[in-house]
Amino acid sequence: MALRVSDVMISHEEIQAMCKRMGAEITRDYQGKELLLVAVLRGAFVFMADLIRYIDLPCRVDFMKVSSYSDGMTTSGEVKILQDLDENIAGRDVIIVEDIIDSGLTLYKLRQVLQTRNPNSLAVCAAFDKPDRRRADIFVDYVGKQIPDEFIVGYGLDYGGLYRNLPDIRYMEDDGE
Ligand code: IMP
Ligand code: MG
Repeated sequence: MALRVSDVMISHEEIQAMCKRMGAEITRDYQGKELLLVAVLRGAFVFMADLIRYIDLPCRVDFMKVSSYSDGMTTSGEVKILQDLDENIAGRDVIIVEDIIDSGLTLYKLRQVLQTRNPNSLAVCAAFDKPDRRRADIFVDYVGKQIPDEFIVGYGLDYGGLYRNLPDIRYMEDDGE
C-alpha cells in the first residue's frame, strides 16, 4: 500500500485566521510578561514562525527535538529527547508550541521534563488536536483546530519527512497499489 497527498482539509487562509486568534489570546493572557516559546522540532517550526508574528509581547524562542514516532504513522509510545533547550527556563513564562497532539504522549513527557526545571508558568499551544486518539491525560491551553482521526500533512507536518512545505493541511489517501 502506498499513500499519496489528497484533498485540502484546512486552507492556508483558515490557518492564518487560527494563528491570529491564538496570538491575540496569548497576548491578552500574558500582558506585562516576557514569553519563551518552545517549538517542538521538527513539525512545529512552521506554526511557530506564523504564531510569533501575531503575538504582541516581548518574546524569545527556543527549540527542542524529541522522537516519538517509530515509523510513519503509529506512535512508538516511547519519547526521547534528542536535542535540549539552550535557555534556562527557571522563573520564565514558557509556552510549548506543538504542531499536532495525537496520543498526547510526547507532550505528556515534555511537560514533565520542563516542569522539573521550575518555570514560572508552563502552557501548551498546539496548531491541531486529534482528541479521539488521546492516550495520555493532558491539558492543551491553546488549540488551533480540533480534527477527526485522520493522518494529515502540510504546514510543517510530514509523512516520511516530506510535505512539510505545503501551505495548507491535506489528507493522505491510499493510491490503491
Ligand atoms: P503524540 O505523542 O502521539 O501526541 O504525537 C505527536 C507527534 O506525532 C506530533 O508532534 C507529530 O510530529 C506526529 N503526528 C501526529 N499525528 C500526525 C499527523 O496526522 N500527521 C503528521 N504527523 C503527526
Ligand atoms: Mg511533532
